[in-house]
Amino acid sequence: MFSLKEKFKSKIKALRTKVRMIVKEYGNVKISDVTVTQAYGGIRNVKCIITETSAVDPYKGVRFRGYTIPELRERLPRASGGEEPLPEGMFYLLLTGELPTKKDVEEITKEWRKRSTLPKYLINILKTVPKDTHPMTQFSIAILSLQKDSIFTQKYKIGMNKADYWDPMFEDTMNLLAKLPLIAAYIYRRAYKNNKYISVNPHLDWGGNLAHMLGVKEEEFKELMRLYLVIHCDHEGGNVSAHTTHLVGSALSDAYYALSAGINGLAGPLHGLANQEVLRWIMKLIRDLGETLTQEQLKKYIWDTLNAGQIIPGYGHAVLRQTDPRYLIQREFALKAKNPWPNVDALSGCLLYHYGIKEFDFYTVLFGVSRAIGVLSSLILDRALGLPIERPKSITTESLEELVKKPPKQKF
Ligand SMILES: CC(C)(COP(=O)(O)OP(=O)(O)OC[C@H]1O[C@@H](n2cnc3c(N)ncnc32)[C@H](O)[C@@H]1OP(=O)(O)O)[C@@H](O)C(=O)NCCC(=O)NCCS
Repeated sequence: MFSLKEKFKSKIKALRTKVRMIVKEYGNVKISDVTVTQAYGGIRNVKCIITETSAVDPYKGVRFRGYTIPELRERLPRASGGEEPLPEGMFYLLLTGELPTKKDVEEITKEWRKRSTLPKYLINILKTVPKDTHPMTQFSIAILSLQKDSIFTQKYKIGMNKADYWDPMFEDTMNLLAKLPLIAAYIYRRAYKNNKYISVNPHLDWGGNLAHMLGVKEEEFKELMRLYLVIHCDHEGGNVSAHTTHLVGSALSDAYYALSAGINGLAGPLHGLANQEVLRWIMKLIRDLGETLTQEQLKKYIWDTLNAGQIIPGYGHAVLRQTDPRYLIQREFALKAKNPWPNVDALSGCLLYHYGIKEFDFYTVLFGVSRAIGVLSSLILDRALGLPIERPKSITTESLEELVKKPPKQKF
């Protein structure tokens, strides 16, 4: 058996036992309260989802299995001659909780390469989609189209023991992750480069290959892609893409259904699409005011945007209350590059633009390729833990009014 799968399998029993013990011993301990504001306000800060892969501290930012981004930049294996961590290593870490060796990572690269072909039917489906369909829609369609090959769904149909659900979920995830860079590159080259496709380079890693297939020649861009795919992969379980993938998967929908749904959430402008909106906003600002604007002009422009009831993309976060460490690491990368657009707010977009990926609408697809690593790792863990179908309780405004006005013991 492929050693990552073996390693994961060896951890399942202990994890299940631990969770069972926690539920048995502490099942009635309260870990969160819900206020009326939270019920109407996006369930902010209500602790009610278990996600093992990463956690976000409002002031320190994200930690992946306990490691900060700078720590992982040091400790995850790199491509030979490279300085940035390989996303393959991140997948290993998120799934197992352990740092991989170089050999572990090479094995994943090899395995993904083996599985990295796109079926003809998928290409035919994508060819029928109008070229000006948003790349995120095309990406979601592509992922969903592959559902017909889901091993989980095939095995489920035949009949499968609950305890084994994680196994075909692992296989579907491996197949899907292997194909995502090809799908992304296909969508990009079809929409913007006159159907001129670039084949997989069998000697490159997953992120390096994505950079290569997009058609950017600079070696530095391969490094950027590796870093980008590492830092966007996960941001605990409550964000829209992670939570959606988890929720849809809880109905035992397979990895294709669940990821496609998560990607649809990522396509929202308050979530992943901000990644394209930032640069669009800055470009408009430059069109409106020119490149040499004063601080006063900028301040007025921002206030005009806010007073018009619009958002400033790239600022604010539902959880973070400090500068996002994912922004800081990209800034560090940008400072190494020769002449990145010197904007501090939208570095992912600026860096992509700098290397010639100028089609903003495509940016969130790259985010989606990365996010798949995190949400699919969690999906495998969900099935390994046997988590049930998710079904929170909803109430009407009328019954809520009744509830808050009556003594607290009132039940529904
Ligand atoms: C991410 C986001 C949706 C979080 O919203 P939130 O959870 O309501 O955040 P907060 O509680 O800190 O917001 C407080 C207020 O400031 C507003 N706000 C937050 N960020 C803002 C922004 N970038 N531009 C304008 N207003 C913003 C909110 O809408 C909210 O207004 P309200 O009190 O009238 O409802 C919000 O910050 C946003 O829209 N940012 C821009 C889009 C973006 O970059 N998204 C990617 C995030 S990784």
